[in-house]
Amino acid sequence: MSFPNHFIWGAATSAYQIEGSPLADGAGASIWHHFCQTPGHIANGESGDIACDHYRRYRKDIKLMQDLGLQMYRFSTAWGRIFPNGTGKRNQAGLDHYQRLVDALLSAGIAPMLTLYHWDLPQALQERGGWCNPDSPKWFADYAATLFETLDDRVAWWVTLNEPWVVAEGGHRVGELAPGHQQLTEVPWVMHHQLLAHLHAVAAYRELGKNRIGLAVNLEPQHAYTATAADQAAAQRRDAYLNRFFLDPLLLGHYPAELAEIFGDAWPAALPLAAPSRAVPRLDFLGINYYANAYVRHHPTHFANAEVVPPAANEPQTAMGWRINPEALGELLHWVKRRYGDLPLIITENGSAFADPPLQNDTIDDTQRQAYLISHLQALEEAIAAGINLQGYLAWSLLDNFEWHHGYSKRFGLIAVDPQSQQRTLKESAKRYRTIIANRGV
Ligand code: FCB
Repeated sequence: MSFPNHFIWGAATSAYQIEGSPLADGAGASIWHHFCQTPGHIANGESGDIACDHYRRYRKDIKLMQDLGLQMYRFSTAWGRIFPNGTGKRNQAGLDHYQRLVDALLSAGIAPMLTLYHWDLPQALQERGGWCNPDSPKWFADYAATLFETLDDRVAWWVTLNEPWVVAEGGHRVGELAPGHQQLTEVPWVMHHQLLAHLHAVAAYRELGKNRIGLAVNLEPQHAYTATAADQAAAQRRDAYLNRFFLDPLLLGHYPAELAEIFGDAWPAALPLAAPSRAVPRLDFLGINYYANAYVRHHPTHFANAEVVPPAANEPQTAMGWRINPEALGELLHWVKRRYGDLPLIITENGSAFADPPLQNDTIDDTQRQAYLISHLQALEEAIAAGINLQGYLAWSLLDNFEWHHGYSKRFGLIAVDPQSQQRTLKESAKRYRTIIANRGV
């Protein structure tokens, strides 16, 4: 493998998953802080109360990043640390924390990529309707503008939202993620308001910022389980729902036609949207979070009349039960280019959870994670050779962390974190990644 010299290597995390100290220094509670307090929501009753204690240990963690040779670190800011009530009075201590983090990254020679929203809405805003409130785009843009004003002199890569579809699907339809609603009628509005939030924030950025701003979406190729017309149509519907729900209106100016059929009465009569204009790009780059592909078949009673067929025990999969399919990653990048044009792309997340072997002779030999990493990088190398404008790769995740409703049971880290002692240990995959970075391939 050999990657171009300008290719950027890094790793990603998010605030609630690693920081701990959720209420420190005047922070307001987030929906995740709130959600974790209800028994039954999170595996083993866990929470992000301590997580990786990164809020206090970030300087040591930056040393580890440096040791790996990371050139970029993607993290998110917790909205409620900066605006404890979501809007209104700002908390300087929260802003100062992220200024120190950014400064420490820059002194270590690591470029920060700052995600403004990685699912931890201030609880005070949830109590005003959260993403269902038509004011939510403005709330977000005001928060974003504060960050642009404070940090655009030091942050060259901005991400507005992380995985808006997951916010809607997990938080408002399935209910396994905060705020835990199961309301189909909320889903189109949560998507639409996030879309407007992105657009408002980008408009603010065009006034205040000098660098680049993008978005991170999770994309998952949807393959028909069999060649029957029914299964193909089911895969198409799920593709519209998952992959095109946000990007079509953002970049093509209209919602996918399938959505009205999928949602039926729950689809709003109108979701007003301006058409994209070339003069004011809605993205400077597209961040893609890729983990898996899916096989879909028709199902008479499932949502969207589509059922995702889980992998059989003998099919390659991670501890999440997600299929391992690096070819689908290459296919996906070509699809994005065909459908949305030749945008600069960056892999903002890719990685795998496995039940790692125990620490032995000072090492954790996570062979499956190494294989996952290498096979996905190979797919990316091929895509670049085939003309895909891919600028970098950010591994999910730097640290074993709080994997949402799974608690700490699913480990994605290149670096293991002992929840009791907070001891960090580089897994073999981290060392392998260090070698790949140093050689721009293997
Ligand atoms: C993505 C999320 C990230 C993490 C990974 C495993 O959907 O953005 O926070 O949970 O999945």
